[in-house]
Amino acid sequence: MNEALELLLKRRSVKAIDMIEPGPSDEELNTIIRCGIRVPDHGKLGPWRILRFAGDRRRAFGAVLVAAWQAAHPADPPARAELERGRLERAPVVLAVISRITPEHKIPEWEQELSAGAVCQNLLVAAHAMGYRAQWLTEWFAYDRTVAQALGLGPHERLAGWIHIGSSAAEPPDRPRPDFADVVRDWEP
Ligand SMILES: Cc1cc2nc3c(=O)[nH]c(=O)nc-3n(C[C@H](O)[C@H](O)[C@H](O)COP(=O)(O)O)c2cc1C
Repeated sequence: MNEALELLLKRRSVKAIDMIEPGPSDEELNTIIRCGIRVPDHGKLGPWRILRFAGDRRRAFGAVLVAAWQAAHPADPPARAELERGRLERAPVVLAVISRITPEHKIPEWEQELSAGAVCQNLLVAAHAMGYRAQWLTEWFAYDRTVAQALGLGPHERLAGWIHIGSSAAEPPDRPRPDFADVVRDWEP
């Protein structure tokens, strides 16, 4: 079968926690990102942007995560918040995909947001095609106000996903997939 189709039929995520080095080189990452931003985009609004976290930046961002956890859970002991510091270090590279909509535009907001989802999926597929593993996560820190502020998100921006990219020691087992017949039907007039 054609390689692209095989990849789409077999691709599956590897949990960030199971990721190991190596991650993509700078050049490889640029290619993955170029694939990511080549997505359908009604109205050519470019309703997304990407922040890269690799190397020391992942650890540095840990301070933001610890502070955000503390702010959201003031009763928690500091040791609990401290657990969040290494969150971005589970994978060699993490990309924050930010949905950036133009409000009150003739292109509905929903369509602009869907385009950001397409960016996330293209990143996963491109990383996989290059032989890396990837996972699309949101977790608590896609929805946290302190984190959003630290990322400099504007009023019409929000996190679509934290795309984790790396390698893994083992082939991940597949998960149950939807039954084709349950989700696909011919339209009946
Ligand atoms: C928008 C979005 C957010 C997600 N957030 C999480 C998350 O926070 N935690 C998690 O365990 N899985 C999350 N997932 C699920 C995983 O990315 C992934 O779908 C799952 O591990 C199975 O992956 P596969 O179908 O690519 O093999 C999310 C998926 C999507 C589409």
